Amino acid sequence: MTTLKSSTALLVLAFAFFFCFIMSTTGSYVYFQFVQQWPPTTCRFSSKPSNQQRRLQIFTIHGLWPSNYSNPRMPSNCTGSQFNFTKVYPQLRSKLKKSWPDVESGNDTRFWESEWNKHGTCSEEKLNQMQYFERSHEMWNFHNITKILENASIVPSATQKWSYSDIVSAIKARTQTTPSLRCKRDKKTQLLHLHEVVLCYEYNALKQIDCNRTATCGNQQAIWFQ
Ligand SMILES: *[C@@H]1O[C@H](CO)[C@@H](O)[C@H](O)[C@H]1NC(C)=O
Ligand SMILES: *[C@@H]1O[C@H](CO)[C@@H](O)[C@H](O)[C@H]1NC(C)=O
Ligand SMILES: *[C@@H]1O[C@H](CO)[C@@H](O)[C@H](O)[C@H]1NC(C)=O
Ligand SMILES: *[C@@H]1O[C@H](CO)[C@@H](O)[C@H](O)[C@H]1NC(C)=O
Ligand SMILES: *[C@@H]1O[C@H](CO)[C@@H](O)[C@H](O)[C@H]1NC(C)=O
Ligand SMILES: *[C@@H]1O[C@H](CO)[C@@H](O)[C@H](O)[C@H]1NC(C)=O
Ligand SMILES: *[C@@H]1O[C@H](CO)[C@@H](O)[C@H](O)[C@H]1NC(C)=O
Repeated sequence: MTTLKSSTALLVLAFAFFFCFIMSTTGSYVYFQFVQQWPPTTCRFSSKPSNQQRRLQIFTIHGLWPSNYSNPRMPSNCTGSQFNFTKVYPQLRSKLKKSWPDVESGNDTRFWESEWNKHGTCSEEKLNQMQYFERSHEMWNFHNITKILENASIVPSATQKWSYSDIVSAIKARTQTTPSLRCKRDKKTQLLHLHEVVLCYEYNALKQIDCNRTATCGNQQAIWFQ
């Protein structure tokens, strides 16, 4: 009787440990935000001396961020492995130089390092360093945001402006999921500039889902894309 009781207790304990383990390893993030930036806007609002050679007119990767609905800033800076340049093998490196350049100061490696250490470490349970960078590049390749907008006649313009839903609808028509937009407000002119397009992916970073995080583009205001 006693042995039965204690072995039952042991079983319960084992289950508890098992569940705690599962919960703590899968609970750190819920979905991914795949963030692409419009380099001219990044440079316009950058405090760093922008690299003039990098006035790219295509959306490039800012980062792949494991995210969580309850806490917008978390998770970040998790206790995973630190960035290791040799994990980004040369062939991948040359791809990332196109899709994930550091448009602000031109040190691509440093940009990848900071994105990995701040965000990648939080999804290492699912994607190791190599997979994290490969998957991001594939996402960038799969939906060409610049092309999608171009097809909808949304191209950089000094005179024309767009509504939030103009831009979102164009992307949604192609990706079948709702993206989220991030803007920067010019303190002098008060104008909103399109800065980033966010696509959301489920936990495995394979299937796209709707984004529902509140955008930083105001509600009704016109958006400039320059
Ligand atoms: C969201 O992140 C916070 C902080 O890391 C964490 O305490 C919370 O459990 C997370 N929520 C979910 C649903 O994972
Ligand atoms: C994570 O680390 C970066 C770089 O050191 C820092 O800028 C950021 O504030 C940190 N985030 C949190 C939530 O501590
Ligand atoms: C970086 O990765 C390489 C290849 O996987 C490995 O040999 C090396 O020990 C790693 N370096 C560090 C500092 O972890
Ligand atoms: C670029 O950043 C990497 C990683 O932080 C660093 O090791 C390297 O020295 C930097 N290169 C230059 C030219 O500053
Ligand atoms: C994406 O579309 C833009 C605009 O049409 C084009 O310049 C660029 O080469 C395309 N990128 C890729 C990787 O196909
Ligand atoms: C852009 O339009 C062309 C011509 O209609 C079409 O073939 C292409 O698939 C479209 N690309 C995107 C990314 O919407
Ligand atoms: C976003 O969607 C998630 C999952 O469906 C849900 O838990 C969360 O409450 C939603 N957040 C907002 C702001 O609608």
